[in-house]
Amino acid sequence: MLIRPATESDHATIKRVVRAARINPMDLDWRRFLIAQDADAGNIIGVGQIKAHNDGSCELASIAVIPEKQKQGIGSAIVRALMAKESPPLFLFCQAKLEMYYTRFGFRKIGVEEMTTYYKRMWRLVNAMPEFIRANVHVIVMKWDG
Ligand SMILES: CC(C)(COP(=O)(O)OP(=O)(O)OC[C@H]1O[C@@H](n2cnc3c(N)ncnc32)[C@H](O)[C@@H]1OP(=O)(O)O)[C@@H](O)C(=O)NCCC(=O)NCCS
Repeated sequence: MLIRPATESDHATIKRVVRAARINPMDLDWRRFLIAQDADAGNIIGVGQIKAHNDGSCELASIAVIPEKQKQGIGSAIVRALMAKESPPLFLFCQAKLEMYYTRFGFRKIGVEEMTTYYKRMWRLVNAMPEFIRANVHVIVMKWDG
């Protein structure tokens, strides 16, 4: 597996992988992405990005690995590579069931009092969405302080 910055020609695949993973399909500018590529087959097997927000915060986002390649350390490699090129703090949104997954990289769940403007607004919005309430999905915000 190779981890590399995305190029413009990866844009359609990034969108496809993120949509198939059923995570936030907004703000998928390829310039912010790192790609995991199968060293033999050459296809894209995972993606992830860092988003910069207007309140000055940065978000680890769009982490997705294609189903047939999950649980082989690819998601972890993408997260670590993105963290290595950023300075703390970094924030992320995830489903509550993924809290332990991100804890292993040094993220911790934060309460609303530690959220910047962007996360407060989005966290309230997302957790009020009827489809999330119906599916009993709870989204949390996590922070890496370095
Ligand atoms: C979450 C995701 C990126 C992890 O990538 P991955 O390459 O499968 O993960 P890794 O191989 O690095 O790590 C595997 C570990 O994560 C855990 N894990 C993976 N997905 C999980 C999930 N949905 N819930 C709980 N734990 C999960 C595994 O149990 C495994 O733990 P172990 O090492 O103790 O056995 C991947 O499952 C995925 O693309 N999911 C769909 C999209 C998504 O939910 N993205 C996260 C957005 S915040």
